[in-house]
Amino acid sequence: MIEESVIQEIKDRSDIVEVVGDFVSLKKSGSNYKALSPFTDEKTPSFFVSPSKQIFKCFSTGKGGDAIEFLREVDSMTYIEAIKFLGEKYGVEINDSEQDYNTNNEKESLMIILNKSKDFYKDNLNSDEGKSIALSYLEHRNVSRDMIEKFEIGYSLDQWNSLLDYLSKNQFNEDQIQKAGLILEKNDKKYDRFRNRLIFPIHNISGKVIAFGARIISEKKNQPKYVNSPETPLYVKSNVLYGLYQAKNIIRKSDNCILVEGYTDVISLFQIGIENVVSSSGTSLTINQIKLISRYTKNITILFDGDKAGINASLRGMDLILENDLNVKIVSFPEGEDPDSYSKAVGKDKFLDYVKSKETNLITFKVDLLNSTYKDDPVKKSEMIFDIVKSISKIPNSIKRSVFIKEASNSLDISEQALITEMNKLLMNSENKFTQSKNYINIEKEETAKKKEINSAINFYERECVRMLVNYGTSDFEVLGLDRKSFIEYFLNEIEDIEFENKNYLKIIEVFKNEFKSNRVIDINYFLDDKYNDIKEDVIDLSANKYEISKQWKDKFNIHVSDEIDSLKKTTYTNILRLKFRLIRKMIKDNLKNLSKSDMINIDKETLELHNKLKSAEMEIAKQLGNVTTV
Ligand code: CTP
Ligand code: MN
Repeated sequence: MIEESVIQEIKDRSDIVEVVGDFVSLKKSGSNYKALSPFTDEKTPSFFVSPSKQIFKCFSTGKGGDAIEFLREVDSMTYIEAIKFLGEKYGVEINDSEQDYNTNNEKESLMIILNKSKDFYKDNLNSDEGKSIALSYLEHRNVSRDMIEKFEIGYSLDQWNSLLDYLSKNQFNEDQIQKAGLILEKNDKKYDRFRNRLIFPIHNISGKVIAFGARIISEKKNQPKYVNSPETPLYVKSNVLYGLYQAKNIIRKSDNCILVEGYTDVISLFQIGIENVVSSSGTSLTINQIKLISRYTKNITILFDGDKAGINASLRGMDLILENDLNVKIVSFPEGEDPDSYSKAVGKDKFLDYVKSKETNLITFKVDLLNSTYKDDPVKKSEMIFDIVKSISKIPNSIKRSVFIKEASNSLDISEQALITEMNKLLMNSENKFTQSKNYINIEKEETAKKKEINSAINFYERECVRMLVNYGTSDFEVLGLDRKSFIEYFLNEIEDIEFENKNYLKIIEVFKNEFKSNRVIDINYFLDDKYNDIKEDVIDLSANKYEISKQWKDKFNIHVSDEIDSLKKTTYTNILRLKFRLIRKMIKDNLKNLSKSDMINIDKETLELHNKLKSAEMEIAKQLGNVTTV
């Protein structure tokens, strides 16, 4: 247990802007800070941090809270982990002994075991056996003392259960040691997973060890070069990047992330002062790893080892990068070299020169690969062209797309129009089926659900808009000490181009409009007249003094009614904007509905043009909505 007074001290010293800033790139926005939400992959920032209130709020997921809550959400820390993390960051001493081990939180216990093991492996490095086998190997590979420290490199002894013995002696539970992935079992006998190997601890983003990679030191037959921790409740390989803990701040500062294949590449580059480097540990990139990187930068430079097999495999994951609107540069090394060997051979400056001179964008890279590999095979070539167009179609930004199309057209010697036609087919198709990026789930189900949601959202915002009109129709706005502006004028102007679907609402607005034309501003009482019997009920309903929005609606659409009179203009503006947003979404869908029936090859120009127009309107509104949302 950590004492309450210590927790308070930690809370007092913590600054949420700094804490959040370790994970996302914050930009100042008025008295707050904003960023792209780390919890979704949004294009418009809806994540806010308020220094005065010391809270964060994510409008796209509804998550919010203090620094501790943020750490729990962003890094799945437990409460205690978050407290300890902050304690370390702000230099508050926590009386932390193994007593925490008995917590009933499993992840926490596994983490304690793994970090204890890490210390054990580190100590082994300085034992006689460690010195003669592992340290000498590291020296031979020119790994500096600093790097050994920084990456907490260790050594597992050449024995069957040195770690198991050590942990057992320290009262750790055998089941949990096994759950942490540290021991294997054969014929009821348990033994260490890592033996006689160099140990590379894998850290989570806050620097705690969650897994190990272990490299063979002396070549032995039938033994893999690396043995890695299995997946555990703590370690989900596809969510982790090796080196990110050490590199994250430099990645943000340099606004670039270098991605390499191996542990040793990370360490070597770090050692010569290239510190914005992480590794996907030999597998092709996953969507979660990409999201992880994009919390810090949108620019990735991928360094491939010099063997073609690896490149082809990894290219498959590459569309994910484009989809997520990251800028990706690719460099491949000469046959037989990897960033580790090459940087050691030529040194920092030449290494960087090489990267600069060889880096190409993904599309050019693919085109080059195509030209060199398949130039004499028309079938393969056309497949590859299709593949390239597909990659380009994944780029959300239309300007970027057309730049790449131009480039591909030049180097492939194929008309730009042919490529555009192909791409449009893909674009339309994906819009139509909701297959864009991450929606792999149940497409049909999702589509009906979305449609329903759009419709109910439209109903809701129509109602909100008319409610503002009925209740505040006679008010004025304070426009920053300047002239007062009448609500009704503002409102009518804003909704001019909106077709309300609800006929009664339409009527109510018409009444306000007609009266205003004759310079009369009316209020609810005006509707007492019998000639308004058909809409009277709606007006009364909307004007109910204590209009309570159910909590569900509040959570779902983020409506705050309490202080709407104080910020009348903003509330009205946002409601109308939200209504427009939903309406446009619906129009986009309707436009594409016809398309699915028509021949996909001859997408008619009008549909396409309308589609593009609607899309940019949608973006524009989304942007404006992003700007008006505040904590
Ligand atoms: N890898 C693995 N299991 C293997 C081989 C490789 O998990 N049997 C992963 C490791 O994360 C390794 C990365 O793939 O770091 C790249 O493999 P490789 O280039 O073979 O290893 P290096 O890290 O370059 O190691 P070294 O420099 O010692 O050759
Ligand atoms: Mn390598």
